[in-house]
Amino acid sequence: MPRINLEIWKGDWIVVTGASSGIGEAFCHALAAKGLNLVLVARRQERLVALANTLRERHGIQTLVFAADLSQTGVARRLREQLDAGGIRPRGLINNAGAGLWGEFSRHPAQAHEAIVQVVAAAPMALCAEFLPSLRGYPESLIVNVSSPAAYQPVPYMASYAAAKTALQHFSLALYQELKGTGVLVQTLVPAPSQTEFDDRAGAYQSGVGDVRRPPEEVVAACLANLDTERPLAGNAKGLYKQRMFAGLFPVRMVLAMVAKMFKPPAGE
Ligand SMILES: NC(=O)c1ccc[n+]([C@@H]2O[C@H](COP(=O)([O-])OP(=O)(O)OC[C@H]3O[C@@H](n4cnc5c(N)ncnc54)[C@H](OP(=O)(O)O)[C@@H]3O)[C@@H](O)[C@H]2O)c1
Repeated sequence: MPRINLEIWKGDWIVVTGASSGIGEAFCHALAAKGLNLVLVARRQERLVALANTLRERHGIQTLVFAADLSQTGVARRLREQLDAGGIRPRGLINNAGAGLWGEFSRHPAQAHEAIVQVVAAAPMALCAEFLPSLRGYPESLIVNVSSPAAYQPVPYMASYAAAKTALQHFSLALYQELKGTGVLVQTLVPAPSQTEFDDRAGAYQSGVGDVRRPPEEVVAACLANLDTERPLAGNAKGLYKQRMFAGLFPVRMVLAMVAKMFKPPAGE
């Protein structure tokens, strides 16, 4: 018996945050193709409306656009209240919205770091809390929290983003265990570096991370392929086991120095 078979969820609702580009947009296309109705969340309303129109025309699904800034507190509650009022009880929640900040910590204002922590870690937790009662009302339901290889060790020059992703990843794995056997599958999804708007918007520069970027559809496919396995972790990022061993077993100073070398901005950046 597959743990989750989305084919029989046709007509159920899934909330996708960060739906206006990249991995979130790819999730929307893949889920709409399975006949799932979608709540699209991000700030850029025009993009969400255009995507919603395309998905409705192409797949005959229903959509709801919720334009909001997840760096503000209280958004999760407002979204849940709006869905309650419309009689929408989501069966899935894809916590995908995220943004990063490359460069020295001190180059960015406190507010920018606060926003990263809110969008990457606090908002997904709040969304899980708001929607768990709805999710638990189904025989099986799904939470996907989109993490990052940055969650596996501290990342100098991307310090607040990596710390926030670590918080999200630990939260997500802990929730997986708490909800095991309840019907709610919590998947922590770790994308490889992907061809999205993320790096440009985060102010990425030439670094030791490399230039290879995977298409966003690839990580979405990895997520969906793992829904019948009950594995806590899924994704298309390579070498995570080694990364975890390296961060856990090697002296902290060595780990920090090696990661700093990869992310250090070029002179003048
Ligand atoms: N790309 C990579 O290499 C990579 C690698 C590992 C993990 N990830 C993670 O994958 C997820 C998706 O990123 P992506 O690569 O698809 O990047 P992306 O193309 O930049 O998409 C990010 C999405 O998050 C939304 N978002 C950002 N800040 C928001 C805010 N304050 N409120 C609401 N929505 C917000 C953006 O929409 P608006 O700007 O319209 O609000 C956009 O839809 C993120 O969690 C990211 O950390 C990405």
